[in-house]
Amino acid sequence: MSFNLSSVLISDEVDQKCVKILEENGIKVLKNSKLSKEELLKEIPNYDGLIVRSATKVTADVIAAGKKLKIIGRAGTGVDNIDCNEATKRGIIVMNTPGGNTLSAAELTCTLICCVSRNVHSGDRAMKEKKWSERKALMGSELYGKTLGIVGLGRIGKEVALRMQSFGMKTIGFDPIIPAEVSAEFGVQSMSLEELWPLVDFITVHTPLIPQTKNLINDAVFAKCKKGVRVINVARGGIIDEEALLRALESGQCGGAGLDVFTSEPPADFTLAQHPKVVATPHLGASTSEAQERVAVEIAEQFVDLAKGKKLFGA
Ligand code: NAD
Ligand code: MLT
Repeated sequence: MSFNLSSVLISDEVDQKCVKILEENGIKVLKNSKLSKEELLKEIPNYDGLIVRSATKVTADVIAAGKKLKIIGRAGTGVDNIDCNEATKRGIIVMNTPGGNTLSAAELTCTLICCVSRNVHSGDRAMKEKKWSERKALMGSELYGKTLGIVGLGRIGKEVALRMQSFGMKTIGFDPIIPAEVSAEFGVQSMSLEELWPLVDFITVHTPLIPQTKNLINDAVFAKCKKGVRVINVARGGIIDEEALLRALESGQCGGAGLDVFTSEPPADFTLAQHPKVVATPHLGASTSEAQERVAVEIAEQFVDLAKGKKLFGA
């Protein structure tokens, strides 16, 4: 399939390499990450393609206004900010760049596991407040010999497992579509969630946010885990029930959390992010120069391939 793709609007902060590749291939580009919703609705009718990260909400009205729109590209993994049903109804292709930011998201996950186990965030806060004596309250625990439960054994879950095994962690996990023989190849013992909960010292989630994973980690799950279990979410806000997490942190059932993502971003309420047992980052999983360059190049090349009638790629 090939079609006329002569103009593309980039409405988020996407690496400049994306613009360069599109322009080198004769595609006219406007990059403007400061458009208001009204301005986006006015601009979009002029373009064949739209490229976004997560800030632009590609809602049904934006898609409907894109009279010439044939393709929407997400320079990243999750397409939750794009109304894919509306796009499909109108015959518009939605593409992403799965894999481009996998290593960055995996590395941030491992960083948060380390921070939570050693209270790095609390130690840093104490130092900035010149409170050396707080070190007494900041006893941590080793990762060596502990069990990490990985929910979602796709691209990021697998890379997290491989890295945390080098700390001596035992890695167990669950994924409805990854066969046990496959996860065993990267050192993860697969089991049901019911079997996994009582065994884990740390849980990290790496699934999409879908009805089956919304509030997957909830009050009932915390109750099935060991007291002091620690949880990490670098996937999507809402996979861990935020209110249940706060209750578990307060009661001590949860010993700490590392959170990069929130049900609303920025959070409407910063109580969780400000909790002393929480290390929080503002959705930085893909925020490395390497990942941003990769996703920018990948999405641009995919657009060019499509314009030239080459095979499509994406999740
Ligand atoms: P992936 O598609 O490679 O893996 C996701 C896995 O989740 C799949 O193997 C799937 O079978 C599994 N899964 C689906 N439903 C499940 C369930 N109910 N229980 C257990 N497993 C289930 O995706 P990925 O690239 O590894 O990304 C994982 C998540 O991380 C996505 O939500 C993505 O949007 C997010 N992400 C966040 C950042 C960030 O900046 N924080 C960066 C990249 C990706
Ligand atoms: C993704 O799904 O790719 C991430 O959340 C990172 C991003 O927002 O770019």
